[in-house]
Amino acid sequence: MELDSFPRRSYISEFTPIEHMEKLSMHLGGANFFIKRDDLMKGLTEGGNKIRKLEFAVADALMQGADTLITSGAVQSNHCRLTLAAAVKEGLNCRLILEERVPGSYNKMASGNNLLFHILGVEKITVIPGNADAKVEMEKELNELTNSGRKGYIIPGGASYEVGALGYVSCAEEILEQASSMNLSLDYLVTPTGSGGTYTGLLAGFFKNNSDIPVLGINVSRDRIAQEELVYNLIQKVLRKLEIDREFPAGNVRCFDQYVGPGYSLPTDQMKSAVKLLGRLEGILCDPIYSGKGIAGLIDLAKQGYFKPGENILFLHTGGVPALYAHADLFLSEESELDRILESQ
Ligand SMILES: Cc1ncc(COP(=O)(O)O)c(C=O)c1O
Repeated sequence: MELDSFPRRSYISEFTPIEHMEKLSMHLGGANFFIKRDDLMKGLTEGGNKIRKLEFAVADALMQGADTLITSGAVQSNHCRLTLAAAVKEGLNCRLILEERVPGSYNKMASGNNLLFHILGVEKITVIPGNADAKVEMEKELNELTNSGRKGYIIPGGASYEVGALGYVSCAEEILEQASSMNLSLDYLVTPTGSGGTYTGLLAGFFKNNSDIPVLGINVSRDRIAQEELVYNLIQKVLRKLEIDREFPAGNVRCFDQYVGPGYSLPTDQMKSAVKLLGRLEGILCDPIYSGKGIAGLIDLAKQGYFKPGENILFLHTGGVPALYAHADLFLSEESELDRILESQ
């Protein structure tokens, strides 16, 4: 089934650029590194991967007659910010369930995405402990809306369900078209992976188009096996939605968990030095939670010799930059130590 058979809102007016990271490639030696700039995606507030997913998720909500979007995420969730921005654009209300995955991490006065929730006019924020079930809380909001004569629509965390993942099926098709017009033969695509929809959509999109570009996922939270299972299970649902009945090879799901560090959103030295390295060599900003850990993984894999000289590697920059401003302390207070690490690289 083609993507234009599914309801879709249009938040992206043009392809996001693929740029050659010349200085990073020279720095690492060997392979050629490119970056797909989904952080520059225009359309909703501050860009990022969730915009592609929301094109399909919000269209589904509107088709079902919803007046309110309900979703969940971490206290600095990019997905929550973008769901709210989409709601504003569509004239809908938005309620957010924020999971305090790190105890004590919710700060009502925090900058970054938290600030934007308030500027964009969220209807309601409910903060729950990290071990509570966000799905249950979202159902409660849904019932409350129903009882007051309104109609809610739940977008699962990260919009990582078979509807949202279609956004990255579409991105895979965009990458194939761009690479072909650039005469660029890609050997690997590397993406950060959290709730899994981005990675799943890319794998499903390449599979749909009979492309065998390997896609590697750099985990930001789970261990390898749990993340690979999550992605593999979601792929089955996406392929069913696309009415593709060929068997997807489980071995094509390849996740790396050694860059997660102590846990979701908790900093690592590799992440901090990778964020600074990319800033200083390419002038590109990454966030500490997703793209920063993703690029740290890419750099480390390159240093371990995972990529061969001359291969073309595309890193998907999934956005998230607003969260950087909520974590200034990571990059300011340890300046001299970080600079020492950077110099030794
Ligand atoms: C900036 C950013 N990058 C990557 C991800 C991970 O994408 P996914 O949840 O689809 O795995 C997220 C998810 O919240 C994100 O906000």
